[in-house]
Amino acid sequence: MDVIISKDYNEMSVYTAGIIAGFIRSKPDCVFGLATGSTPIGTYKELIRMHKEEGLDFSKVRTFNLDEYLGVGIDMKKPYHLDQSYARFMYEQLFRHINIKEENIRVPDGLTKDAEKYCQWYEDEIKKAGGIDLQLLGIGGDGHWAFNEPGSSLSSRTRVQELEKQTLDDNYESFYKNCGIDRSQMPHYAITMGVGTILDARNIIMIANGKKKAKVISQSIEGPVTTQITASALQLHKGNVTVVIDEDAASGLKNLEKYKRL
Ligand code: GLP
Repeated sequence: MDVIISKDYNEMSVYTAGIIAGFIRSKPDCVFGLATGSTPIGTYKELIRMHKEEGLDFSKVRTFNLDEYLGVGIDMKKPYHLDQSYARFMYEQLFRHINIKEENIRVPDGLTKDAEKYCQWYEDEIKKAGGIDLQLLGIGGDGHWAFNEPGSSLSSRTRVQELEKQTLDDNYESFYKNCGIDRSQMPHYAITMGVGTILDARNIIMIANGKKKAKVISQSIEGPVTTQITASALQLHKGNVTVVIDEDAASGLKNLEKYKRL
């Protein structure tokens, strides 16, 4: 596992986008796993800049998003700030600014009528694409990957997951509040790739910034592997794992001198 410490959010984002761009250049039809949340926004901005200024070509890239709220679907008739779907987030923060083909994009369908069947289909689609070459991940406030809340099996697959209070609180503050949605109206379930699905990706990049991520970052990198911090499963990954974090997110690590600095 490579742990890389950047001085700030901007440096973390530019470095991470550089790794992703390298993948796309060496394998133009690569399969890229995408994350939502505030953390990857800077990385997506830099990828957009590379597309516009350096011609980074997404025309053959295929993507799979990690998760979506259950019961929520993209609604292009709404202004962005009132659309709560992760699909809309991806469209606004990345897809509409690059030359990716719509048929190459997969975001779990929160409006599916048969979630169990849908989740199996999503798994099959990933397999049909040849598996994920590079999965980008953030980390939740309770140490989760995607929506794999504490207690999720480390071999879990794509499924419906009930959300914990801390996740609802965090996502209300960072996302739902701005949509004018009452805290009690937030969806309490999501479709999420499982920890096992994520571990099947050939390469993983996890990013985090800010003091509020310091504890879960140290738990996932230096703590025991546990279902209570599902991001700690990164220690089980058989391929390349790169963790890119800013100094604040790194501040809880015990072995700081062991890690690379940008
Ligand atoms: C949600 C998403 C996760 C993301 C997390 C952290 O729970 N499902 O994939 O990592 O939020 O979000 P942020 O980057 O805003 O801290």
